[in-house]
Amino acid sequence: MVAVEWVGKRVGTSVSTDESAAASFLSRNQFLIYRLFSLSGLVPVGAFLVVHLLTNASILGGAESFQGRVDLIHSLGPLLVPVEIAFIFLPILFHAAVGFMIIAGGLPNVGSYPYAGNIRYTLQRATGMIAFAFIVWHLIHLHWLGAPVRGTAMPGFDPHHASSTLAVAMGSMAMNLLYCVGMLAAVYHFANGLWSLGITWGLWTSPAAMRRANVVSVVVGVVLAVAGLGSLVGVRRVDVEAARSMETRREELRRMLEGEVPLPGAAGVGVGQPLRADPSAAEPQRSGT
Ligand code: HEM
Repeated sequence: MVAVEWVGKRVGTSVSTDESAAASFLSRNQFLIYRLFSLSGLVPVGAFLVVHLLTNASILGGAESFQGRVDLIHSLGPLLVPVEIAFIFLPILFHAAVGFMIIAGGLPNVGSYPYAGNIRYTLQRATGMIAFAFIVWHLIHLHWLGAPVRGTAMPGFDPHHASSTLAVAMGSMAMNLLYCVGMLAAVYHFANGLWSLGITWGLWTSPAAMRRANVVSVVVGVVLAVAGLGSLVGVRRVDVEAARSMETRREELRRMLEGEVPLPGAAGVGVGQPLRADPSAAEPQRSGT
């Protein structure tokens, strides 16, 4: 079994017990692991990618529109972190771990591609690895998980000041380029993955059906690429000061409605009133979108 070869690397002259147990587990459950890997690429990981990119694109409609989407996500309150862990982080980790095993040759990609060595096959693997590196960077850069790593060296994302903090964090051209590459890699990987997933699950078997699936994959890829790149354009258009005062007014209003302690320096609330609180004194950064 290929899986046995991959995990059963020799340590001196003997194979460690843990390694051979893992190898036999993988070889016994190869079919199931591959199916779960394939499914996880669609739901929840792929579904999350679609929602995330479309949410980010809402910044093209202005800072308030984006803040509204972020508030909706954060209305989950204390449930947000467990939901993120269960439906985003663990499935991505599972998909990436199996993906790396496939790339390393430990798990064959049975039936996924009818002919090996074509460009799409190679790009699927390359973009998987680029997407992984990008996701790690993205979490360090903007997510609450990355706060201990980035420390005070980098401005993070504050969900109560979504557009203004995002615009500051995305301020450099280098960062925009990095996000272009990372997002396009993730989009290609997902869109091309949709096509290969249909082959894995036997959804399109004839050449004509494969061609139709190809068209769908291309359309999905183009829409998501436009949404992803559009969000970068939208962030660059944000007027940071104007966004900050709008966000602070919304935050004051929210606190008043929910009976929370007002922001330091806030004398009262009124949508459309001038900024009366220092946004930097708002509560510490908690989470990404
Ligand atoms: C942005 C998040 C990701 C999404 C939405 C995603 C989605 C998908 C989908 C839908 C497939 C097709 C499955 C099939 O052919 O049955 C796939 C395949 C694949 N993914 Fe991902 N994936 C993501 C991240 C990753 C990461 C981080 C890796 C790590 C290297 C990875 C590695 C792979 C590999 C190697 C394949 C091809 C497997 C094969 O050749 O049979 N993916 N992915």
